[in-house]
Amino acid sequence: MSHKMRDLISLDSVSAAEIMAILDLAAQQKRDPESYLSRPVLRGKAVGLFFEKASLRTRLSFEVAVAQLGGTSIYVGQEAGRIGEREAIVDMAKSASRYLDAFVLRTFKDETIVEMARHATKPVINGLSDKQHPCQILADLQTIRERLGRIEKIKVAFIGDSNNVCRSLAHALPKFGSQLFVASPHGYTFAPGFVKSSGITQVAAPVDAVKDADVVYTDTWTSMGQENEAHKRRAMFQDYQINAALLSHAPKAIFMHCLPAHRGDECTDDVIDGPQSVVYDQAENRLHAQRALLTLLVS
Ligand code: CP
Ligand code: NVA
Repeated sequence: MSHKMRDLISLDSVSAAEIMAILDLAAQQKRDPESYLSRPVLRGKAVGLFFEKASLRTRLSFEVAVAQLGGTSIYVGQEAGRIGEREAIVDMAKSASRYLDAFVLRTFKDETIVEMARHATKPVINGLSDKQHPCQILADLQTIRERLGRIEKIKVAFIGDSNNVCRSLAHALPKFGSQLFVASPHGYTFAPGFVKSSGITQVAAPVDAVKDADVVYTDTWTSMGQENEAHKRRAMFQDYQINAALLSHAPKAIFMHCLPAHRGDECTDDVIDGPQSVVYDQAENRLHAQRALLTLLVS
C-alpha cells in the first residue's frame, strides 16, 4: 500500500491495491487461524460498535473478529438513539477516541460516519449507512475470488434497488475492470450522473442484465428505514424477483445476496437454497474480511 489507509468510509476512495491487500490477508487468515491467534494484534485494545439500526451479521462478525484478535468490543445499539442526538458528533468522537482504538458505525445518514471520521483520532469503519455498505462488498469480493478465481474482468448483474449495497458494488467493481449491470424499477435507479461517472451500465429489463453474468446479485426491496414504503415497493419490484426462470439465463452464475433476505420477494426459496447460491459463504467472509481490515487499520 502506498499510504496507510486510516478509515473505511467508502470503497470509492480505496484503491484496487488496498482492496487486494485486505482480500489477501483475509484469505491467508482464513487458511491459517494460528497466524492471528498466536499474534493477537488487538490485545488490550477496544472497538466500539455504534449501531442505529438492527444487525445480525455485521455485529456478530465484528465482535467475533475483535475477540479472535485479542481485543474487546463494546456494542452501543439503537436504544442509545441516533448518533449526534444526545451530544454533538465532535464531542462524542473526541471523547470516545480517548478509550477506543476503532469505531464501527451503522447509521442512517452517511454524513454521520464522515463527520465521526473527521473528528475521531482513531479509525472509523462504515458498517452500513443509507448510502453504502463497504464491508459487505469486501466479503463479497472475497467470495467471488474464491468461487471464480478472480475479481478482474467479470460481469456482475444486480437486480433490484439501487441502494447502499449496489452503490458499494459500483464503487468497487470498475476498479478491477469488472462490469456492473444494474436493473432497477423506474424511480429506484441511480442518478444518471452516478451511472456515468462510475462506469456501470443501467438496463431496463432484468433478463438483459443477467445474460452472460458471472454473478447475479440482489438485495431487499425495502431497506432499513424505508419500512413505511414496503407496500408500494413490493408492487414496484414485482418484475425484479430472482427466480428459476430469470436465473436460467445465467446458468453458470453464482447467486449472491447480502442478507437478510425476504424469501418470496426479491428471491425465491429454490434460488437462495439452490446450487448456484453462495449466500452463506458471503456471510462467513464478513468475519474474515473484517478481521483482515481490523488487523491492517488498528494494529
Ligand atoms: N449483510 C448484513 O449487513 O447483515 P446484517 O444487517 O445482519 O448485519
Ligand atoms: N439494503 C439493506 C442491506 C442490509 C444489509 C438495508 O439497508 O437494509
